[in-house]
Amino acid sequence: MLRLAVLASGGGSNLQAIIDATERGEIDARVVLVISNNSDCGALARAGKHGIEALHLSGRQFPGQAEFDAGLLEALAEHEVDLVILAGYMKLLSPTVVKAYRNRILNIHPALLPCFGGREMYGMRVHQAVIESGAKFSGVTVHVVDEKYDHGPIVAQRVVPVHQDDTAENLAQRVLIQEHKIYPQVIQLFAENRVRVEGNHVRIHSAG
Ligand code: GAR
Repeated sequence: MLRLAVLASGGGSNLQAIIDATERGEIDARVVLVISNNSDCGALARAGKHGIEALHLSGRQFPGQAEFDAGLLEALAEHEVDLVILAGYMKLLSPTVVKAYRNRILNIHPALLPCFGGREMYGMRVHQAVIESGAKFSGVTVHVVDEKYDHGPIVAQRVVPVHQDDTAENLAQRVLIQEHKIYPQVIQLFAENRVRVEGNHVRIHSAG
């Protein structure tokens, strides 16, 4: 049973999809900790409803980055977390944290990386940029987290069409449906120990 910590800043619909998948027994994993930098976000409320420990951890509570990192790493260690799941977490993790959980931190991004990613590219801004670009397809990317925003080896992607009359909101809805499917599927690949990171490439080994 893989022990997950989910870090989220917003509504937490991806968190909910993961919790639902664990409760339905679809994935061999359990969310043992939810952490947010935002004390009144939906994600923390969702954790509470499911009896999952919820922690508000913000840079402002600590004198500096090193202390914040120590607090985060302590919480992850205390809960014996195997895999850290970023689900709409809008902060960059420091190199110290990335190093401590190398290849064991995942992020979901609502577009096809390496396009439409980076520091200012989150939430609705991503969909707006996709629509403005005239691209006919967008999608979802789940990747292993490294030291840069929306960067690191890609584990899985799904393609979503962009319709010519789409608004950012419509596109976001269509992409979210795929996000909610792909994240639990990727977590299950990790639970089955089928994922190997080799440089910039992720290889998925066959089951059994
Ligand atoms: C999701 O669409 C996720 O892909 C995106 O934020 C949303 C969070 O929704 N993440 C990023 O843009 C990261 N660069 P949720 O809180 O309902 O899961």
